Amino acid sequence: MENQSQPTVFSSSARNLWRAVEPSIWTSNSDNIRRDQALSVLKTLLDQPRWLEAYLLYDERGSQLFEQICKLPEYYLTRTESAILAENAGQLIRSAPVECIAELGAGSSAKTLHLLREQVRQRGTGIFVPIDVSLPSLVASREIVRRQLPQLSFSGLHARYQDGVSSIEKSLPTLFVFLGSSVGNFNHSDFVQFFDHLSQCMGPRDFLLLGVDRVKEAEVLEKAYDDPKGVTADFILNVFQNINRIMNCNFDAGKMRYHSWYNREWQQVEMYAVSTASQEIRFPSYGASFSWPKDDRILVEISRKFDPVRLQQQLQWFGLKPVEHFTDPKEWFSLLLFQKANSSESG
Ligand code: AVJ
Repeated sequence: MENQSQPTVFSSSARNLWRAVEPSIWTSNSDNIRRDQALSVLKTLLDQPRWLEAYLLYDERGSQLFEQICKLPEYYLTRTESAILAENAGQLIRSAPVECIAELGAGSSAKTLHLLREQVRQRGTGIFVPIDVSLPSLVASREIVRRQLPQLSFSGLHARYQDGVSSIEKSLPTLFVFLGSSVGNFNHSDFVQFFDHLSQCMGPRDFLLLGVDRVKEAEVLEKAYDDPKGVTADFILNVFQNINRIMNCNFDAGKMRYHSWYNREWQQVEMYAVSTASQEIRFPSYGASFSWPKDDRILVEISRKFDPVRLQQQLQWFGLKPVEHFTDPKEWFSLLLFQKANSSESG
C-alpha cells in the first residue's frame, strides 16, 4: 500500500504528509495522532463546564448509531436535506463549475450521490474527495461510488476536517460540501476558526455548499434529539467508550444517563451525559484523575440552529459570497451555496 501513487488532489507541500491505508484512501503520516487526540480531549475535559469535541462521537459504533439516527422518524434533518439536494442538484452543479467535490465529514456519502451523479451527467468526469475520521465509512463510500459512478476518481482522506482541507491543491477548482448541519456542532470560537481556515484554503474558483438546520419550534427539535427508542442516548453516551479507548480511562456507562434540551436563547440543542453516581475518572498515562460528582453534567454535543440569511451575512466576513439558497416547503432546512470572493473584491 505504501507505494500507491499519490493522487493529483494534494498540493505539492502536502504530498509527504499522507500515506495509503487502503486502496484510494489516505491517512495522515504523523505518528502524533494519538497524542493530539489525547490533548484535545484534555483541553475540553479540563474546561468548566466539561465538554467534548464532536468528532469523538464517530468511532465505528458511533458511526453506525448515527446512520440509525438518520432513519428515525423524529430526525427530519437527513430526509429533508436529501430531498432538497435531489430536487436542486442539477442547478447546484451548474452554478459551481468544478472538477473536484470534497466532502467534509462525509460518512457513507449517501446524500452526496445526488451531486456526484449530476457532476458526471453534466461534465462526464470529476474527482470525489471525502474527508472523514471513520475509516469504515470511507471504505463504504468508496464501494458505493465505484459501483454507481465509475467515471469518478476517488481519493478518501482519513482525517479531521482541517488536515484534509489544507492538503487539497488550491488551483484545482473544488466544491467543498459540508452537509447535515454538522457546522452546528461548532461553538462560537470553533465556528470562527473553522471558516477562517477553510476560506484560507480555498482557491479563487472554489465553492462551498453548506447544509444547515434552521431555528424552529422547540418541540420539534427536542423530539429529534431524544427519540423513544433511545438511539440518540446510545450515540451520545457511546463517546465515553471511545474516550476510554483513547485515554485508557474508566468512564462507567452504567453510571450515567442522557439529558438534552433546546436552549432557545442560544438557539442550540444541548446534549449531556449526567453522572448518576459519583465516580473517580483516572487517566493512568498521566498519573492524574478527576472526580465526576453525582448529577454533574458533561456537555457531549451541541447542535446549533441557524437563520440562513444571517449566516449568509456572517460568512461574508470570511470572504464567502452567497450564491444560492434552497430550502424545503416547511422551511426547516437550508442548503446554501457560497463562492470564494476574490481578495480584491473583499478588500
Ligand atoms: C451530525 C452534527 C448534524 O447535530 O443533528 C444527531 C448529530 N446528534 N443526533 C446533529 C446528532 C444527535 C447531528 N450532526
